[in-house]
Amino acid sequence: MVSLEDIELKALENDVPIMDPEGLDFMIDQLKEHHATSLLEIGTAVGYSASMMVTQVDHLCIDSIERDHNRFLEAKKNVEALGLEESIHLFEADALEFNNDDLTFAPYDCLFIDAAKAQYQKFFEKYIGLVKEDGFVIVDNLDFHGMIYDIPHIKNRNTRALVRKIKRFKDWIFNNDAYEVTYYGVGDGICIITRKD
Ligand SMILES: C[S@@+](CC[C@H](N)C(=O)[O-])C[C@H]1O[C@@H](n2cnc3c(N)ncnc32)[C@H](O)[C@@H]1O
Repeated sequence: MVSLEDIELKALENDVPIMDPEGLDFMIDQLKEHHATSLLEIGTAVGYSASMMVTQVDHLCIDSIERDHNRFLEAKKNVEALGLEESIHLFEADALEFNNDDLTFAPYDCLFIDAAKAQYQKFFEKYIGLVKEDGFVIVDNLDFHGMIYDIPHIKNRNTRALVRKIKRFKDWIFNNDAYEVTYYGVGDGICIITRKD
């Protein structure tokens, strides 16, 4: 018998990045508040956030995409062990190359982007069309551990380049006339994006 706690502990032990508890609680509250029943997750990892969400939000169904083979297999194992395979459908693919028609629960009340940070804008543009008119998008890690506020002092070049890309997405979405963006300093910085009327 596997529990959600076992999955969380194993992920932490193996350095698999999973959503922090504060961010996850916040997200679950948002899903409940919006009465969300369908969600697309980009970045399954081992299925921890998806399993937490479907067990805490009534009637929620999730399509989730993961490109890493081993993590996908682990997620599949976890979802099956928890008996959640009817409400969580997993897809092994690079979300940027994936055929959207294969998804099962679209259109979505919520799009949750939690994959390669440098690609946020591309994920957003590829999948926003599958979000219902009154749906919303959640993006995590927008502060990148506070580094986004002090980019010139980031010593590692690759990290600096990555944080610049996150900032570019943040600037793009906040200045986009088509969307309303609300930022929450929860966890590592979460924003909720909705369409303007
Ligand atoms: C932060 S983890 C996801 C954590 C998970 N949502 C949770 O909280 O339990 C990000 C995952 O996105 C995956 N990923 C990154 N780029 C991707 C892409 N282009 N398509 C699909 N998955 C991707 C990574 O392999 C990684 O497992």
